[in-house]
Amino acid sequence: MSSPTSSASSPPSRSACAPVPRTSAAGTARGPTSGIGRAMAMELARRGLNVVLVGRDPAKLREVAAAIVRSHSHKGVRTKTVVFDFSLVSTVQGDKVMTMLREVVEGLDVRVLVNNAGVAKPGAMYLHEVEVDTLMRMIWVNVLALMKVTAVVLLGMAERGRGAIFNIDSASAEALPSFPRPSTLSTPAPKHMLFSSGLSVEYRSKGIDVQCEVPFLVETNMIPRAMKDIFLPQFVVTPEDYARRVCVPNMAHRVQFLAMRFTPDFAFNWYRLRLHLQQRTIFQSWRNHESQLIRTTYLQALSKITTSKSITISIIVQGKSVTNDLSKLQPTQAHIMNYMKNNLPHMHIILDEENIQSAARVRMGGVPAAAAADLRQQEPPWPFVALVIIGAIHVAALAFRLVSHLSLCLRRPRDLRRRYGAWAVVTGPTSGIGRSMALELARRGLNLVLVGRDPAKLHDISETISKLAHAAVGTRTVVFDLALASTAEGDEALRRLREAVAGLDVGVVVNNAGVARPCAVYLHEADVEAWVRMIRVNLWAVTEVTAAVLMGMVARGRGAVVNIGSGSTEAIPSFPLYSVYAATKRYIAEFSRSLYVEYKSKGIDVQCQAPLFVATNMTSGVAKAADDAAAAAAKRSKRRQRWLSPLFVPSADAYAAAAARWIGHGAVCMPNLCHRLQWCVSRAVPDAVHDRVRLRENLRQRAVFQRLRRRPPPPDATEGKDRWLMGSLGVSALSSLMSDELRCMDRWVSHSRVVAVMRSF
Ligand SMILES: NC(=O)c1ccc[n+]([C@@H]2O[C@H](COP(=O)([O-])OP(=O)(O)OC[C@H]3O[C@@H](n4cnc5c(N)ncnc54)[C@H](OP(=O)(O)O)[C@@H]3O)[C@@H](O)[C@H]2O)c1
Repeated sequence: MSSPTSSASSPPSRSACAPVPRTSAAGTARGPTSGIGRAMAMELARRGLNVVLVGRDPAKLREVAAAIVRSHSHKGVRTKTVVFDFSLVSTVQGDKVMTMLREVVEGLDVRVLVNNAGVAKPGAMYLHEVEVDTLMRMIWVNVLALMKVTAVVLLGMAERGRGAIFNIDSASAEALPSFPRPSTLSTPAPKHMLFSSGLSVEYRSKGIDVQCEVPFLVETNMIPRAMKDIFLPQFVVTPEDYARRVCVPNMAHRVQFLAMRFTPDFAFNWYRLRLHLQQRTIFQSWRNHESQLIRTTYLQALSKITTSKSITISIIVQGKSVTNDLSKLQPTQAHIMNYMKNNLPHMHIILDEENIQSAARVRMGGVPAAAAADLRQQEPPWPFVALVIIGAIHVAALAFRLVSHLSLCLRRPRDLRRRYGAWAVVTGPTSGIGRSMALELARRGLNLVLVGRDPAKLHDISETISKLAHAAVGTRTVVFDLALASTAEGDEALRRLREAVAGLDVGVVVNNAGVARPCAVYLHEADVEAWVRMIRVNLWAVTEVTAAVLMGMVARGRGAVVNIGSGSTEAIPSFPLYSVYAATKRYIAEFSRSLYVEYKSKGIDVQCQAPLFVATNMTSGVAKAADDAAAAAAKRSKRRQRWLSPLFVPSADAYAAAAARWIGHGAVCMPNLCHRLQWCVSRAVPDAVHDRVRLRENLRQRAVFQRLRRRPPPPDATEGKDRWLMGSLGVSALSSLMSDELRCMDRWVSHSRVVAVMRSF
């Protein structure tokens, strides 16, 4: 990573706009000069905006900047470039570049931010086949960098009281029930959706419009050319078309969206899994092909060396220069590089420009193209049309769902020990839902591996379990501060966890640990360290722990993974002032949904449980904060409080009893009956109403939190009062009954607001 540079003299802040397209950067995208990012930058320049380009490759940034200046110099458009490798965002270098980026945007009247950078590597693979580093890199680029850059730009926008933010997401999150190809690609992306809707509500009153774009297939490097043919060409749009119509819904995408909405989940799951497994085959043959290609070129290069002592050659892999950096290469390529280094120590390695081009030609004409042709033959000719027809049986599918749901509620609970295995791993078992889950699983005869950060609390819960009269179960404890996930200490703790479960018949994993702090704050007010900690606990740790135990489950051919998400991602469209929390929980939902499809055939049930409010430490903090309202509510009706509060806010024990019963039934569920009822009602409420009510509530919380920071909280908040508060918060979100169509209309209304903003430039 290097420092920011200017490719043209920076303009002084001018009343005309200075947009900041953050062009695509890392991973499989071929740098910032291609795809949607480039097209968006050109489009914004066409509309007369100065452009700051943020990407990792200085040469390519310069090239885009030059192209912009060349095409739009008559409009006085200028550019700046900031070199930023988003995959290094959580390093010291990343912090330095963030500081520089802050300095660059500080002097500018930034009106538009386009968060486009995204990584889709490692393509179609099962989670346990992917290296943890690759997963983490993807999370840094797709999640952390997005949030950090947004926070930096928002500060200025909030001060000036105007701006627009476009987060480029993926339709895989909105239209498809799952995306089993790389669940890791589809998981960070949908976070944009919830993150954006949260921000949109938070910042609308400050004059800032936030919108999440959900494109379907756009003809960029992210969709390998050989695979494009398997879709109908009418449905794949060019990046330029996409960028031109970014504020006008693209009809081709809209049609696909509607078709898919009316297709039942099971049909789609079947279709996508089949398609992605075929893609996986293509990718595998591709890698194989690529290493053969390098071998061949290496032999060609060797023949040229006889006349020269030293020859400088660089390898280009999928458009990226990876000269001499073994750590970035695939094992097969690294092997070849090593071989060459050992045998020819005086030379840098391979391929000249000519060979690269022929390499590209061979790649297009070789195995992948053949595999794609194969795929075309196997696919039905009109997949999308077929899906629209399948939509006709939607009503039948709904009826089927209803019946299976009812039968699930009535059936006897599963014997978890016999079905999945004798041990369960529970993270965060020291309080709240985790503690109750651990006790419930122990009551059902499962031995427990308890993972938490406080040894004393772990000892305490372990003792409590061993004293359970009717359960002779064993326990093990692993001290793991999940906020350190993916650091050296975290890796060490993960190793200890692996050791603790090695050789055990681990049948159930409950990824429960989670944090919701910082509570009720605007993104730009929050302490960055705090939400990075939240992301580590709620998101990275879940990924790491799941990957660590899945291997054994796959070997045994059975298991259940339960990830505790949140109803805030399922029942309501946004959770303003808790944007990062909601986004991490959306990750959990998408992660689980896709893993569910991936691992079903391997005998493993993956599930996201999405509770609404449960009476635990997490919610009692919020309830205490809303103490004033509680007093008023309590005065209004004490009798109503007695029966309403447990109805809306179950205790952790009641939640755990229902949760254990639901293990293995469905990809995403809301185990508690009262939560499900709230969910049903909430679905009928238009987004705009939800947004308004939720923002009002959370702003009230924010005000109380700010007061509480100045004085100690009242000591006598009772549990009943907390529960009533939570109940009132839940009920307040359900204030009117409207249909799904109204939601769509509402989205169109907010969409047209952004259109208006764009047109005003
Ligand atoms: N309560 C609700 O209304 C609600 C609603 C929706 C979703 N959820 C989700 O349910 C899960 C459990 O929440 P809860 O309500 O039971 O909250 P809680 O009572 O605060 O319990 C959180 C648990 O996570 C552990 N934990 C937190 N940070 C950790 C870290 N860095 N390393 C290791 N362990 C850590 C805590 O350990 P310590 O005891 O050491 O702090 C505690 O055991 C969370 O994922 C939450 O997001 C809760």
